[in-house]
Amino acid sequence: MQQTKVIAHRGSKGTHPENTLAAFQEALRVESDGIELDLHLTKDQQLVVIHDESVNRTTNGKGKVKDMTLYEIKQLDAGSSFSPAFKDEKIPSFQEVLDLLVKEDFKGLLNIELKTDHEPYPGIEEKVIQIMKQHKWLFQVVYSSFNYDSLIRMKERDYEAEIALLFEKSKGAQKKIGEKYTICMWHPKINWLKRVGLKTYPHQSMRPWTINSLSQMDYCFEQAMSGLITDYPELALKRRKKWQPDR
Ligand code: G3P
Ligand code: MG
Repeated sequence: MQQTKVIAHRGSKGTHPENTLAAFQEALRVESDGIELDLHLTKDQQLVVIHDESVNRTTNGKGKVKDMTLYEIKQLDAGSSFSPAFKDEKIPSFQEVLDLLVKEDFKGLLNIELKTDHEPYPGIEEKVIQIMKQHKWLFQVVYSSFNYDSLIRMKERDYEAEIALLFEKSKGAQKKIGEKYTICMWHPKINWLKRVGLKTYPHQSMRPWTINSLSQMDYCFEQAMSGLITDYPELALKRRKKWQPDR
């Protein structure tokens, strides 16, 4: 039976300010098997790690990422809205996160989500591929997106790139990927999975999100899913011991 990978959503989003170096550091500290992050492109074409198209919710600033330079973004406090204890946290560049993973010798799974479903960010796929091809990483990489055209563009630029389909309601849109490219993993919203069940889709290739309750964790571990994406990686790793032996 495969061990279900625990993937830290936006770092350790439940315990630290999402998508910050502090959150990724925490995901590493608890020895998460995987780390998920979200990518956007600034006005000066820099890759930054943030979930929303705008900085409004997670920082003390206002505006859209696409209308701000990296310098402007770097002036913002991305920690205080979570807790004053994190007031020095910034929105990290993609490179800063990669540097952290290298420094910490991360050998797990890096799930890079291209946030192109609202803003197309022309050229983002090429930039990501260029950065990722510059180095021989010790970790495995999987690209996900709600925008399947982005995933196709990734495959067109790197045939060996692993891709995962993100979806909330229906995965009918997977047909857009076509026969040409292999989809490595399904990353569905847990509600969809519970409704549809695992009859049609192999649990070996399922990594649902966002698995935060113990009962949802138990469901994923009991079904020996490929992975689960959670805001609470430390909790999930402890819970896994009940179902699956540590390797
Ligand atoms: O990868 C799972 C999850 O990150 C997808 O949704 O909105 O949290 O990026 P979201
Ligand atoms: Mg995401």
